[in-house]
Amino acid sequence: MNIDPSGSLGEILFTEEQIASRVRELASQITQDYQGKSLVVMSVLKGSVFFLTDITRHIDLPVELEFVKISTYKGTTQPQVQPRFEHGLPWVHGKNVLLVEDIVDTGETLHYAREALLQNGVASVRICVLLAKEGYQSRGGCVPDYIGFCIPNLFVVGYGLDYQERFRNLPCVAVLHQSGDGESK
Ligand code: XMP
Ligand code: MG
Repeated sequence: MNIDPSGSLGEILFTEEQIASRVRELASQITQDYQGKSLVVMSVLKGSVFFLTDITRHIDLPVELEFVKISTYKGTTQPQVQPRFEHGLPWVHGKNVLLVEDIVDTGETLHYAREALLQNGVASVRICVLLAKEGYQSRGGCVPDYIGFCIPNLFVVGYGLDYQERFRNLPCVAVLHQSGDGESK
């Protein structure tokens, strides 16, 4: 990875207005799908916070909020990167959980979260992401139930997504300029 440390922004993929309109569409789909039920909307920190607060305000159901932080680390015994909950899982036994995440790339993070929730006896778990990177279906991880937008295989920032903690507060989603080859993560 070789990104300009000043972090130069490229093309805007989705404006504030486009995001707001798509978020309302997703919220009304979710409201319809969960008619008569209550929902625990579980935000994966930090990238999904703006998405969470916007989408939940348009979900017309009884909603509880929960927050989890998932970190990925490279274990000493296993070669692949392993996700884990930094502060454990909240008590959601018997509840309908909607996991809200900023972006799916390989799908490993969300696959891990979904399996952990199922093992903890949730009534149901569905996944809602703002963005899905092109080719995510073939990477073997989780396939979300609700997707805001599909995007090309580029590193993006804004509306919660960061590069080294910067750019989260951009109201739009934009490409981060990268010099050199390879995808950043
Ligand atoms: P996986 O591969 O587990 O990865 O689906 C999902 C996590 O990787 C981060 N990620 C990004 N973050 N811009 C970001 O700011 C991106 O383009 C990007 N692609 C992946 C993100 O933390 C997500 O939770
Ligand atoms: Mg994230």
